[in-house]
Amino acid sequence: MVTYVDAATAPLKNTGQVRLYDAEAFVGMHKAGRLAALCLDELHDMVKPGITTAEIDRFVYAFGLDHGALPATLHYRGYRYSVCTSINHVVCHGQPNDKPLREGDIVNIDVTYIVDGWHGDSSRMYPVGELRRSAERLLEVTWESLMRGIAAVKPGATTGDIGHAIQSYVEAERCSVVQDFCGHGVGRLFHDVPNILHYGRRGEGIELKPGMIFTIEPMVNLGRPQVKILSDGWTAVTRDRSLSAQYEHAVGVTETGCEVFTLSPRNLDRPATLAA
Ligand code: MF3
Ligand code: CO
Ligand code: CO
Repeated sequence: MVTYVDAATAPLKNTGQVRLYDAEAFVGMHKAGRLAALCLDELHDMVKPGITTAEIDRFVYAFGLDHGALPATLHYRGYRYSVCTSINHVVCHGQPNDKPLREGDIVNIDVTYIVDGWHGDSSRMYPVGELRRSAERLLEVTWESLMRGIAAVKPGATTGDIGHAIQSYVEAERCSVVQDFCGHGVGRLFHDVPNILHYGRRGEGIELKPGMIFTIEPMVNLGRPQVKILSDGWTAVTRDRSLSAQYEHAVGVTETGCEVFTLSPRNLDRPATLAA
């Protein structure tokens, strides 16, 4: 049985209880989430054939410091970079390196900034030059699955409702949902309870209550859902080497639904083929 605690008075360690945050926390999360979104917006025009993910890493580090923020991934559990950059069949946790991106690649860039102790965690897909239609469609399906997950967030719904909304849509589009990684509680901690599975059944999991803050970050594959971790201990790839995509927002549950903390000020947090 899950229990809920007032985040303002609970100790800052993971006790398995779900934190309920106050309005002040929502202000802090908006600030941290906005900075992550601004960084992802800046990268919009930088990601082109020839740029390396190491250059992206340096940009994310410098942009954070310029705005009084630290990248949460740097030295997190031994991870050594300011960002995750996951290209093509890399599902998540790709490590920046000196290889130039190539025309037709798709890359997920996942940024988490700590601003005044709050974690703003968000990721988007970036096309490198012109994409094949199959890659473009994967980006559209993955983004739409995140939108459907977010639409399921309201008090009284469950984490299973979110997972079901994502999985049923993705599978109807003949793609698959990665089950080895999930969204997570976020706030003063980077990775907190509850786990937000991107698959599941309606009514399962835990009940959503106003004040909960978590990420939704579905990873969707064109092929089969299975992944493996490379020998670097971080990089997760699709076993069948099919293309994989991911979008991530951090959200807070309100009395009527949810607020998204990581929305793009320039409306760039969706595939260009679906631009508003
Ligand atoms: N930002 C990732 C997430 O969405 C976590 C990356 S942890 C790292 O939860 F160590 F791999 F960087
Ligand atoms: Co996350
Ligand atoms: Co992230």
